Amino acid sequence: MSNTTRVLSCMQPSGDVHLGNYLGALRNWVTGQYTCDAFHGIVDLHALTVTEKPGILGEQTMSLAAMFFAIGLDPDVSTIFVQSHVPEHSELGWMMQCTVSYGELSRMVQFKDKATKRENQFISAGLFAYPALQAADILLYDANEVPVGDDQRQHVEITRDIAIRFNHRFGETFVIPEAVTPVAGARVMSLQDPASKMSKSDASDAGCVYITDDPKVVIKKFKRAVTDSDTGEDAVRYDPDKKPGVSNLLEINAAVTDRSPETVADEYSQYGALKVDTGEAVLAVLDPIRERYEELMRDPGELTRLLRVGDAKAREVASATLSRAHSNIGMLPA
Ligand code: TRP
Repeated sequence: MSNTTRVLSCMQPSGDVHLGNYLGALRNWVTGQYTCDAFHGIVDLHALTVTEKPGILGEQTMSLAAMFFAIGLDPDVSTIFVQSHVPEHSELGWMMQCTVSYGELSRMVQFKDKATKRENQFISAGLFAYPALQAADILLYDANEVPVGDDQRQHVEITRDIAIRFNHRFGETFVIPEAVTPVAGARVMSLQDPASKMSKSDASDAGCVYITDDPKVVIKKFKRAVTDSDTGEDAVRYDPDKKPGVSNLLEINAAVTDRSPETVADEYSQYGALKVDTGEAVLAVLDPIRERYEELMRDPGELTRLLRVGDAKAREVASATLSRAHSNIGMLPA
């Protein structure tokens, strides 16, 4: 380990991983594990805030874990754990709820958004208290840095406020974390609507390439990618504003072949060839990942073994932090 900055990133097990997740973020987790002390949680308790049916959450947790290992996260290098396997999260989460105010939680933009979207549905108190659990995730591991997109900055800010308040009330307990901008990954847009980011909530499934998609489906999605009607000699050029569809293909191709989009553009004059070659270049990266993923999904024993390595490492750190909190508050030892 060349540096001991502790970095924590977590992901909810709520649906299949797609090419945008992989090229935009996950791929950097894999390289990052060798340059910092990385902790990665699969935060199933967070997904519980909107879970209403039995039998799904565990499957999705297993699938995300298999995906983490399939892309190359190594349980002996970084710490990969399942949030609910480390019960300290729930307990510190409660203590965090008692350290944050109703007013502060009411100002969380993500809560307001999610509550609005669930207008006629059940809105759990957990959805409201969610940032307190996230604060526990971060503070349990003495994380120095939390790489997050803009939508999560406010949650890291509130975590800092909570940590500072707790330290002030009860004495030095938590490391104050910082939100950092993740290493820039590729910005992958929908293949059908290149104005919006690739997303599993895409109107059409054709715009979103899942890591586990059958290779034939991947090629088909690329062949059908939306471009434009430009037929000029330099139709294939990188210009995200004027040519969003073509630029998206160039960006994806560049990301999987380690080149710049402009260099890729120089090689093509026709959209058809660019689409097919990009699909194939993507498959060259996805094939081994999908194969390893399927292998792990067929071998739950091995998957459990890999997770136990991380769960144990996570618990060791988390339980030390929780004891520190107990003792600084002055709770009666069990
Ligand atoms: N709230 C984050 C999201 O929805 C997930 C998350 C939970 C998280 N705990 C975390 C992210 C701790 C970073 C650190 O994306």
